[in-house]
Amino acid sequence: MPEPERLRDHTTLRLGGPARRFVTATTEEEVVAAVRAGDEAGEPVLVLGGGSNLVVADEGFPGTVVEVATRGVRADVEDGADPGCGGVLVRVAAGETWDDLVARAVVSGWVGVEALSGIPGSVGATPVQNVGAYGQEVSQTIATVRVWDRVLKGVRTFAAADCGFGYRHSRFKADRLDPWGGRHVVLEVTFQLRQGDLGAPVEYAELARTLGVEQGERAAAADVRAAVLGLRAGKGMVLDEGDHDTWSAGSFFTNPLVDPAEVPEGAPAWPQPDGRVKTSAAWLIDHAGFAKGYGDGPAGLSTKHPLALTNRGSATTADLLALAREVRDGVQEKFGIRLVNEPVLVGCEL
Ligand code: EPU
Repeated sequence: MPEPERLRDHTTLRLGGPARRFVTATTEEEVVAAVRAGDEAGEPVLVLGGGSNLVVADEGFPGTVVEVATRGVRADVEDGADPGCGGVLVRVAAGETWDDLVARAVVSGWVGVEALSGIPGSVGATPVQNVGAYGQEVSQTIATVRVWDRVLKGVRTFAAADCGFGYRHSRFKADRLDPWGGRHVVLEVTFQLRQGDLGAPVEYAELARTLGVEQGERAAAADVRAAVLGLRAGKGMVLDEGDHDTWSAGSFFTNPLVDPAEVPEGAPAWPQPDGRVKTSAAWLIDHAGFAKGYGDGPAGLSTKHPLALTNRGSATTADLLALAREVRDGVQEKFGIRLVNEPVLVGCEL
C-alpha cells in the first residue's frame, strides 16, 4: 500500500491530514470522471486547486480528493497583434496557476488583471470567491465560466452576469453540496481583456501612492504588477517557502459589511452601493488587541499583517482554529462585529 497523500503537502498553510483517495486529473475528462465516480459512490469529494484557500482538518479527508491539474491558455488573437481590434478573449484551463496567467497577460499586452498579481492558487478557484485585490476583482474581466454541474450531471457555461458575483462571493460559492464543496466544478474560465500597455485605472489608494499616480489614473501594466508584488510581499502575501509569514491562507476573515452606525470610531469605512459600508477586518483585529505577530504558540498572526493566520512550522489545524476563534471572539466582544472566515473549512468548524 502506498502512503496516503497528506493534504498538508497540498495546502499553503501546510495543514491537513491524509486523503482517503487522491486523484491528480490532467484533463477535463479526468476531472469529470473522478468527481462523478466519487459522487456516484456516495463519497465525499474535495476539489483541490492551489490549496491556498483551504483549512483541512487534522483528521484528513474521508473521501476522494481531486487535484485539478489541467493546462491550457488559448487567446483568440496573436501575441503582439494590433490592439486596434480592442480586446482579446482568453480561455484558460482551471488548473493553470493564476499568477502565471497574470504574468503572461502583462507581457502580452492584455489588460485588466495586473493588480491581481502575486495571488496564490489556480485559475479555476478565482471565480468561486471572486478573487480581488488592489482595486480589481476577477468578475470585472471574466466573460464566461464553464463548469461540471454535479447535480444535473452535465457541462454548463455561465455568462458573467449569471455568476452572481459579489464581494468575495459568487453562485459557485453559494451553491454548496457540502460545507467544503460546490455544486459546480470549474473546468475553464474565459477572460475578456483589453489590449494595450497601460493597466486599468488604479482604484486602490495605497497602490496609487506607490505608483505615484492619482486614484483613477492609469500606469503601465508592468509597473502595476511590480508595485503590487512589492506591496504584497511587504504584507507576507506572496508565497515564499522560507518565510513562515506566508504559510497562510491569505486573509483569514472577510472585511465585514455593516450599517454605517456600526463602524467603530476611527475604523476605515468604504461605502457600498447597497447603503452598507465595508470596514476593515485587519483594523478591527489590530484594535481588539491582536497586533501583527500575535500569539506565542505554533499558530500565530503574521508578523507582517494581522489578517493572515499562519503556521509557524509545527502547528496543527486545531491550533490554527483555536487562534481563529480567539481573534473572532475578541473582535466580537470589543466591537460587536462578528468576523466570518474567508477560506473554506474542510472537515472542521470555527
Ligand atoms: N490595518 C490595520 N492594521 C494593520 C494592517 C491594516 O489597522 O496592521 C487596516 C488599515 O486601516 C488598512 C486596512 O486595514 O487601511 C486595510 O488593509 P490592507 O490594505 O492590507 O487590505 P485588507 O482589507 O486587509 C484586502 C483583501 C486582500 C487584498 C488587499 C489589497 C480581504 C479580506 N482582503 O485586505 O486579499 O490583497 O485588500 O487589496 O478582502 C485575501 O482575500 O486573501 C487577500 C489577501
